[in-house]
Amino acid sequence: MKIGLKSLCLLLGLALLLVWQLEGLASERRWGASIALVLYAGVLAAALRRARPDGADTDACPDYRVAYATETGTARQLAQEICKRLRKAGFTAAPVALNQLSTVPVPERALLLVVSTTGNGDAPKTGIGWDDGEVSMRYAGCPFALLALGDRNYPRFCAFGLDVALHLQAAGAKPLFAPVQVSQADPRMLDVWFRQLLPKAD
Ligand SMILES: Cc1cc2nc3c(=O)[nH]c(=O)nc-3n(C[C@H](O)[C@H](O)[C@H](O)COP(=O)(O)O)c2cc1C
Repeated sequence: MKIGLKSLCLLLGLALLLVWQLEGLASERRWGASIALVLYAGVLAAALRRARPDGADTDACPDYRVAYATETGTARQLAQEICKRLRKAGFTAAPVALNQLSTVPVPERALLLVVSTTGNGDAPKTGIGWDDGEVSMRYAGCPFALLALGDRNYPRFCAFGLDVALHLQAAGAKPLFAPVQVSQADPRMLDVWFRQLLPKAD
């Protein structure tokens, strides 16, 4: 069973309720047990965060889900940066590997994709086998935006990212704006992409 922060808070609430409803317990003992429970929950919460260093909360339904497909890590780093910026702007956001997309809840506002291309226009490691049919079904009607990473020197520039967008669109997902293609991880392009995203997020 997966335990997320929400489930942990719920369990803590139930345990506290039990402690305060038990009959015949001295007040000091109630307080002692409550403090011990809260401390224990704090330790568990810290352990949960450590177990998910990228901050992904698989139980939660965030405003934005940021799916990344990467071979050498750039797309994952950018996805984490995007989550940080969105949280700063007051939204909830969680990253996930593209090929794990069917295992997490659909976001409230939009699916954001940071997708690299490798080989000769091929899927990188965390993008291989990304749509098991479940993704197309669940994201039909969901707004999405793509930041495609690649290199203009390759003949099939950003091919895999663009394929992912076409596939989602064919399944009924709605692009918020045209895909932004980034060559050699040009950091200015993240700002270009973000400026298009945030007005739509208001
Ligand atoms: C072996 C190799 C093959 C690549 N093939 C392509 C390609 O076909 N098309 C493209 O646009 N970029 C291609 N790239 C460039 C990468 O997509 C680009 O460097 C990207 O920023 C890598 O992101 P990542 O660290 O998330 O994997 C290739 C890079 C390497 C090393």
